[in-house]
Amino acid sequence: MRIDVVSIFPAYLEPLGLSLIGKATSQGVLDVHVHDLRDFTHDRHRTVDDTPYGGGAGMVMRPEPWGEAFDALTDGDDVPHLIVPAPGGVLFTQAIAAELARKPRLAFACGRYEGIDERVIDEARIRMPVSVISLGDYVLNGGEVAALAMIEAIARLIPGVIGNAASLDEESHTGGLLEYPIYTKPREWRGHEVPSVLLSGDHGAIESWRLGQRYERTEASRPDLLETGGDSGTSPSTENPRFVAATADDAGEIWTMARACWITEARDHNSFNIPALTENLTDVQEWLTQWRAWVVRSRGRLIGSVRARRTEKLWDIGRLMVAPDMQGRGLGKALLAYAEQQAPDDIVGFSMFTGGHSVANLRMYQRAGYETRGRSTYAGIPTVELYKSRD
Ligand code: ADE
Repeated sequence: MRIDVVSIFPAYLEPLGLSLIGKATSQGVLDVHVHDLRDFTHDRHRTVDDTPYGGGAGMVMRPEPWGEAFDALTDGDDVPHLIVPAPGGVLFTQAIAAELARKPRLAFACGRYEGIDERVIDEARIRMPVSVISLGDYVLNGGEVAALAMIEAIARLIPGVIGNAASLDEESHTGGLLEYPIYTKPREWRGHEVPSVLLSGDHGAIESWRLGQRYERTEASRPDLLETGGDSGTSPSTENPRFVAATADDAGEIWTMARACWITEARDHNSFNIPALTENLTDVQEWLTQWRAWVVRSRGRLIGSVRARRTEKLWDIGRLMVAPDMQGRGLGKALLAYAEQQAPDDIVGFSMFTGGHSVANLRMYQRAGYETRGRSTYAGIPTVELYKSRD
């Protein structure tokens, strides 16, 4: 990728020669060019600013030097995608970084003072794609720091720029969630232990613990990221589910959805004598007072639910359900991970029951790290007791 940056402070961009971006440049993965806007002026003082028409505080960047700088950037066949860092632009996100990382050529126009004469942007749009992008809801002295931040976020997504491409998959903001906590040696430091699940070698358990941590952290620090999977989405979505503690008001929908979800169990076991199907609305209202339960909604509609409670040192998880049209997208796994995450600290393991013929469920629980602990029957139906140690 070629990156051009135009600024009146080229020295501000010197960090681009350091670290991974610098290395990628010396290896030819990136081709970075920094230009001094004043090189496109023609007066003795190399003037780039003037007073604003209509009055007001501060100075405005004159259009002529920018026009000439853009002429130089667009004189070949491969026109860059121009990015103008400005506090009034669209908010820079990981998704925008990923989109820009796919472009062969980018250019950054770093304004200073009160900003750039608006006609510069209008004229640039005639010959190249232009995005005005803000780093956040605060005002910097100019676009250079924002350009540095954006270039780093974009460039590290380009193959060959960072060594371990796998680490890109699970990092913060990938999939709209924040990162899980990470630890290294020693195992115990100043009285703080590394979470034991990470020492267990059980990859299923580790994966679900990490997913649960990502949801918990996102909910605590950035609940706005979870909103898109909730009521604000334009179509029903299981992405970024928001887990909400169930209340008595949810009882009717939980009861109704359980019927839709357990009907396949009834068919597979040739019996309707399954607790989730035989209980009535009052039963659900009652167990909601005795269990902790969580629901996930999409555009107001209940699409998933799970409940859990303590039995001595175990955390019993049950009534794990996902609306039939929302199944197969990972929501069940996410609900399970979330329910596990809610277990009090002294809980040593998780237990669940499912029907002996519920092949798909059993497979999902196995992948989440559960093992068969026992088999029995309930009202003539074979059941499997599943267990997963917490560490
Ligand atoms: N220039 C000044 N403030 C900025 C911001 N918040 N984001 C991008 N560019 C800027």
